[in-house]
Amino acid sequence: MSHIKDYIEANKQRFLDELFELLRFPSVSADSKYKNDVLNAADYIAEKLKAAGADNVEVCPTAGNPIVYGEKIIDATKPTVLVYGHYDVQPPEPLELWNTPPFEPTVRDGKIFARGACDDKGQMYMHVKAFEVMQQTESLPCNIKFMIEGEEEVGSENLDLFVRANKEKLAADVVLISDTAMISLENPSLETGLRGLSYLEVEVVGPNRDLHSGVYGGAVANPATILAKMIASLHDENNHVTIPGFYDDVLELSEEERKALNQAPFDENDYKADLGVDELWGEKGYTTIERTGIRPTLEVNGIWGGYIGEGAKTVLPAKASAKISMRLVPNQQSAVITKLFQQHFENIAPKYVKVKVTPHHGGEPAVTPTDSVAYQAAEKAIEESFGKAPIPCRGGGSIPIVALFEKELGLKTVLMGFGLDSDNLHSPNEKFDIANYFKGIETIPLFHKHFASLSK
Ligand code: BES
Ligand code: MN
Ligand code: MN
Repeated sequence: MSHIKDYIEANKQRFLDELFELLRFPSVSADSKYKNDVLNAADYIAEKLKAAGADNVEVCPTAGNPIVYGEKIIDATKPTVLVYGHYDVQPPEPLELWNTPPFEPTVRDGKIFARGACDDKGQMYMHVKAFEVMQQTESLPCNIKFMIEGEEEVGSENLDLFVRANKEKLAADVVLISDTAMISLENPSLETGLRGLSYLEVEVVGPNRDLHSGVYGGAVANPATILAKMIASLHDENNHVTIPGFYDDVLELSEEERKALNQAPFDENDYKADLGVDELWGEKGYTTIERTGIRPTLEVNGIWGGYIGEGAKTVLPAKASAKISMRLVPNQQSAVITKLFQQHFENIAPKYVKVKVTPHHGGEPAVTPTDSVAYQAAEKAIEESFGKAPIPCRGGGSIPIVALFEKELGLKTVLMGFGLDSDNLHSPNEKFDIANYFKGIETIPLFHKHFASLSK
């Protein structure tokens, strides 16, 4: 394997330069003003896949953003790994909170700061470079396919159709994704599950127009106050979600499973200090690891209404709104939870207002097996490159494609993430440690090596 390390060492600067070039495309999927940048990012990846030696590289159109495909089939009798990643990123706002511009990657303290540095351009691009390394050192031990999409951050709405229409093309033995986090370089871990998601927008409407708050205030219900009360009622005094039926389908873990989960290193004081909070909050009866891994939750993502401009305006707003999401755990279904929320929110609306609930996207939760050949290959790869076996963990985020791959293609996934929870995903000053980037590029060929040999 030393020739692999030598090749990486000799090409380090170029591997960084290419990632920086990719990070300069503001490929924000949520905002149509970036459509061209999204397309340019897709073309860039296609070009780099080709340059690395992939065959049949295509930028496949969808009703939304294109999917980049490429493959290297060395021997039809050998196993095939399908690498999934995404080149779209979250909006960079609020811009004023970034220390350096989000689409001008900047290195500080050994870390690359840019939107998408970790989620997921940096992690996805490790696979493109690992593939180049394997090609150049003639060490690719199995077939490999790439499917890099551009709508993950907006719910992968066009992916379903693409996957169902391209079953042959995507046929593989396992899916490999680097779009999650590990505990640290000293404590490597592998995520063995992801939460699902149900995302809605609510609107509370009162009077037929904005009113003078002195002339009408006190006589007409204020939609902002009503919305705040309704939202506050969604958790009880123990911070359980109050929606009837919300927990009905939740798969409870055994005491042994919970114990194992809580073995992962976690320092509550460090956690609080990093976030700048004096106390943690959460569902009574569960640890922080459990609250963010195996329990469903409800969060307000945004809330607005009335006057929010400079200075003061005395107004009783006609309406108020919020974006609300729920994270789901195995056995819960996104469509069922969306329905339960909708019914409950309509039920608790007082007569003074009308409410409108509009579902956005969703995604199903997933668990990945830890007794599979692919998981063992990931364990061995990490042990070999980090000198320490990975700790299995549950991830709190969502990657809806994982459940979709299983449903449509019967494929299991390995989540071999190299990010850190503190990488500021979706936040200002997103970063990715250069050390993690190269550790990933070094570990991925080891995964392929072990997967190929364990599959024999
Ligand atoms: N890469 C993240 C998911 C993630 C992050 C999983 C950290 C585990 C640890 C992904 O890009 C993401 O942000 N997904 C969205 C869901 C999507 C439907 C918008 C999420 O989790 O909010
Ligand atoms: Mn991601
Ligand atoms: Mn994301």
